[in-house]
Amino acid sequence: MDTNPVTTASPAAVRADRGAVGTRIDLDDVAKRFRIGDVTVTALEEVNLHVDEAAFVVILGPSGCGKTTLLNLIGALDTPTEGRIRVGGVDITTASRSERFRVRRETVSFVFQSFNLFPGLTALENVEFGTEVAGRRDDGNAASVLEQVGLADRTNHFPHQLSGGEQQRVAIARALATGNPVLLADEPTGELDFHTGVQILELLQAQADGGKTVLVVTHNREISRVADRVIELGSGHIVADGSPLGGRARISELHW
Ligand SMILES: Nc1ncnc2c1ncn2[C@@H]1O[C@H](COP(=O)(O)OP(=O)(O)OP(=O)(O)O)[C@@H](O)[C@H]1O
Ligand SMILES: [Mg+2]
Repeated sequence: MDTNPVTTASPAAVRADRGAVGTRIDLDDVAKRFRIGDVTVTALEEVNLHVDEAAFVVILGPSGCGKTTLLNLIGALDTPTEGRIRVGGVDITTASRSERFRVRRETVSFVFQSFNLFPGLTALENVEFGTEVAGRRDDGNAASVLEQVGLADRTNHFPHQLSGGEQQRVAIARALATGNPVLLADEPTGELDFHTGVQILELLQAQADGGKTVLVVTHNREISRVADRVIELGSGHIVADGSPLGGRARISELHW
């Protein structure tokens, strides 16, 4: 099945023409430094990044290059040391606590690298939490999203009764259940075998096709081939930004 038609026009532009209502992301001269005792670690520096609504972007780079730090800043989970970040036009660097809270609740949804599932909640309850936190009524939404990630038969399992890959899929379902317009996914295929990884990429791409702005972090260059745009980080700097090397690929063409 061809779920990923390769077109010459910018895919984000094609989606925008179809009336996609995503959310822009703008970073101007952003730096993030962590100070531990006398030592300062520069996790990000001179980051200028402008992402169109409904874009499907991969952030690529080796361990420690600043990928999670970047996602945390965009998701208003942390604040930059320098620079300005706007999400959907809202300047989250100068915003009040309540405005930042609103961005976390209503604009972004997160798939954390370490899943962060609630151990005392079942798979279904973890996903329902996603709907609730976004202030929406569930109405069977959580169950249907769990089905989309292939876990219809695991709804009543607790996280410790699930494999790593299944926990990852619950974390993805929880993010999808919010319905928020920006999806930030930190290594969402890291724990998955190839077959399941492909299913998750198809789901993420469908979110962008549906108008969401999707940022996926990975260290796997093969995965980056399906993105509209690949932002490569090296030691806290953007070292490349453009179409995937060798052009966009269909998900069915990937191997890893
Ligand atoms: N809270 C923190 N305090 C101090 N240093 C930190 C903190 N968070 C991250 N760093 C440092 O900032 C750099 C970037 O970390 P980050 O977690 O963003 O990397 P990453 O690209 O996500 O790596 P990985 O692929 O291993 O997840 C690393 O050198 C890390 O040690
Ligand atoms: Mg990381």
